[in-house]
Amino acid sequence: KAAGDPAITEMQPWNQMLGDGVDANPYGKPSHYEAHVKRRSVEWLTADPVSSVNFTPLHELDGIITPNGLAFERHHGGIADVDPAKHRLMINGLVDKPLVFTMQDIMRFPRENRVYFLECAANSGMEWRGAQLNGCQFTHGMIHNVMYTGVPLRYILEEAGVKTNGKWIMPEGADASGMTRSIPIEKALDDCLVAFKMNGEALRPEQGYPLRLVVPGWEGNMWVKWLRRIEVGDQPWHHREETSKYTDLMENGKARRFTWEMDCKSVITNPSPQAPILHTKGHTVLTGVAWSGRGTIPRVDVTLDGGKNWHQARMDGPSLDKSMHRFYFEFDWDGSPLLLQSRAHDSTGYVQPTKAQLREIRGVNSIYHNNAIQTWYVNEKGIAENVEIS
Ligand code: MTE
Ligand code: CO
Repeated sequence: KAAGDPAITEMQPWNQMLGDGVDANPYGKPSHYEAHVKRRSVEWLTADPVSSVNFTPLHELDGIITPNGLAFERHHGGIADVDPAKHRLMINGLVDKPLVFTMQDIMRFPRENRVYFLECAANSGMEWRGAQLNGCQFTHGMIHNVMYTGVPLRYILEEAGVKTNGKWIMPEGADASGMTRSIPIEKALDDCLVAFKMNGEALRPEQGYPLRLVVPGWEGNMWVKWLRRIEVGDQPWHHREETSKYTDLMENGKARRFTWEMDCKSVITNPSPQAPILHTKGHTVLTGVAWSGRGTIPRVDVTLDGGKNWHQARMDGPSLDKSMHRFYFEFDWDGSPLLLQSRAHDSTGYVQPTKAQLREIRGVNSIYHNNAIQTWYVNEKGIAENVEIS
């Protein structure tokens, strides 16, 4: 007679004693069994913890929303510890009436709630010359997808009155890096938000508490955190973050001037190097995420054999403009090695390119804006590895 499953036949500690009461954990946190689920940095990439980056554990998440405590962080001068009572937002430059707002003033404008992805232009940047980092957290984890509550920037600019020669805005951060970028006025008046909440609660300090700019679909660097000032001007400022940084060096040695929109991209999050297949052959769930700075993702294709055969994945969950999308592909694994790839199509008809296609146009000197198809090799034991196939 077979022995019973001890998970059923044995008493467990949690069957035998009372648990903690409601006041044990007034601001909740995940189960301690989930302690491995966290943002991680790459030691050699993060030599200095102040000007640093960590990565969202995409392989541990599902659905489309990134929990606040797992949203990757990128800061150039550390996390500013801003007192909201002393925080001000100034609007100056080419406006009829320069204005200064307190946080209380900002809260008196009508608000909107919208879900957007933020992707750092440097996401997948280490992969330009070849397969490098072993895990989607590190190759693709400079992205998060959050519901923001904020005031349309248009309302705030209209309050100040943009002069007819006001063609650009320059948001500025209150952190030690005092980050600035140039944004065309059309974008500022279109869908940008001055946000104070993420996923319902106040922005986390890491994400720019108490105020950040949301620039939907555009590179993460433009989403100025700890937002304290917006200057209106008649031309771009060409500051550091839009000249020596966040521009793309092409094969001929010239740099592209501005690349704002994040191209359509996807990655398989499971299986992946940090998330091997833990069972033997048979029914297997593959999943991943896709996004585009130009719209929605109506379709993702998946291949198990390095691109010989493509299958249409099953999209699930909300399909929102400039937001992450979730896809699944359930298949019967025969136990032989796999070469997994996903290929996203966005609502403009654009199809995510291969690494070879991207290099044909861009060369290999770029760091930023790598939206190429990612390949994972999975061996017969289910162990996955970051590889490149030609
Ligand atoms: N804003 C300020 N004030 N300071 C910064 O260092 N980093 C930028 C942008 N806004 C930065 C900033 C970069 S490069 C990115 S990718 C995003 O913020 C990262 O946002 P996150 O930390 O919420 O992930
Ligand atoms: Co960035």
